[in-house]
Amino acid sequence: MTVSNQQASPHTQADQWVSSVRAQFPILQQKIHGHALDYLDTAATSQKPKRVIAADPEFYSTINAGVHRGTHELAVRSTLAFEQARRRIAHLVNADAREGHEEIVFTQGATSALNLLATSFGNASLDAQHHTGSEAEKRFALGPGDEIVVSMAEHHSVLLSFQELARRTGATLKWFNVSKDGRILSDTADSVITPHTKVVAITDVSNVTGAITNVKPIITRAHEVGALVVLDLCQAVPHLPIDVKALDCDFAAWSGHKMYGPTGIGFLYGKRELLDALPPAQFGGEMVNLAWLDQPAQYMDPPYRFEAGTQPVAQAIGAGIAAQWMESLGLKAIAEHEHQITTELLKLAGVPGVRILGPLDAVQRVGTVSFEVDGVHPHDVGQFLDAQGIAIRTGHHCAQPIHRHFGVFASNRASAGVYTSVDDVDRLIDAVAQIRPYFLGTRN
Ligand SMILES: Cc1ncc(COP(=O)(O)O)c(C=O)c1O
Repeated sequence: MTVSNQQASPHTQADQWVSSVRAQFPILQQKIHGHALDYLDTAATSQKPKRVIAADPEFYSTINAGVHRGTHELAVRSTLAFEQARRRIAHLVNADAREGHEEIVFTQGATSALNLLATSFGNASLDAQHHTGSEAEKRFALGPGDEIVVSMAEHHSVLLSFQELARRTGATLKWFNVSKDGRILSDTADSVITPHTKVVAITDVSNVTGAITNVKPIITRAHEVGALVVLDLCQAVPHLPIDVKALDCDFAAWSGHKMYGPTGIGFLYGKRELLDALPPAQFGGEMVNLAWLDQPAQYMDPPYRFEAGTQPVAQAIGAGIAAQWMESLGLKAIAEHEHQITTELLKLAGVPGVRILGPLDAVQRVGTVSFEVDGVHPHDVGQFLDAQGIAIRTGHHCAQPIHRHFGVFASNRASAGVYTSVDDVDRLIDAVAQIRPYFLGTRN
């Protein structure tokens, strides 16, 4: 089944599309252990196109300076580029980018965006203990008797941020269960989300099963009871057209490095009226208008209030370029390509002894496919594949509860991106088919 890159004659439109995309990724041109690199670990971090890689030296060679401070020309130029990046990220997900209405906050990653939010809610809850009557208290405070709802499919960055918030405020943590094949049971929204629910934090796409959550009934029910909805868009934005206005989520978080951008940058989206009321979570330089020794500081408006300290300027600019680059490929074209690759990846289920942890059809899912090879530890699977130049992820993918649901502690995960070709998947399937014969001497 294996066809090497040299032998493949990409005549179809789809093959030509992926070939032209792959050519933009220098890292994919190399060999690993004597084999062409077959990178199937995009859910952990995506590779970067030349345009994004070039942005970094370009920034440091031409306009490097702190943003929103200083009057010199470099500071002006870097500030303009930084704010242009914010508009590009906003455009990618249809958030508001107008001056004074910005809805994108730059963070260090999705984890820090989620922690920012949970910490802010915690700070608002402290306000409530002092009965300040603040807008933050009215909108975000939690206490005993309140509920926070997550799901069994959450990445630990959602689970632990909001579990900790529950612990600090005395609220109760509840969760959506998942179906046998790991889909979040959205149709139980009416019973899981109650009038006591204040926050629902849920993944839009699972980083283990690849399943796309049917978030509509969850968001509708949450809003019915006055709860806020936080979406984890980490595995959604890189693969699907996302419109935060159409979704009507209140907050969302995702990372730059999974959407073909640099590491060290992430995004918190918030409806502007909510960001206006949200208290800061980190304190220091840049986020304050007036500071005194003997009275509380007056903080800046969003998004700056949430960006204390020296901002990750080069990273933000690189992420803005990644967003623009994705849009130039076409978000629909990306989704269509990945749908085709997902169908190919699911053929793994046909390899004897392989069990896919997630939905077996390509409907409402992306090309992130976790699997178990019966009788072979994921670590061995990972090493066996690596020896053939195939990079997958092994472990629990920072999502232990859903692994427990599947009765395993760890799994293997192959995950696709814009550059993944059918040949890449064929190579994976051929190699996976060799694993049990190699380790166990059995084909069944
Ligand atoms: C679904 C999901 N949420 C959150 C995260 C955390 O993202 P980061 O590590 O970039 O902060 C990840 C990363 O693997 C993820 O897949």
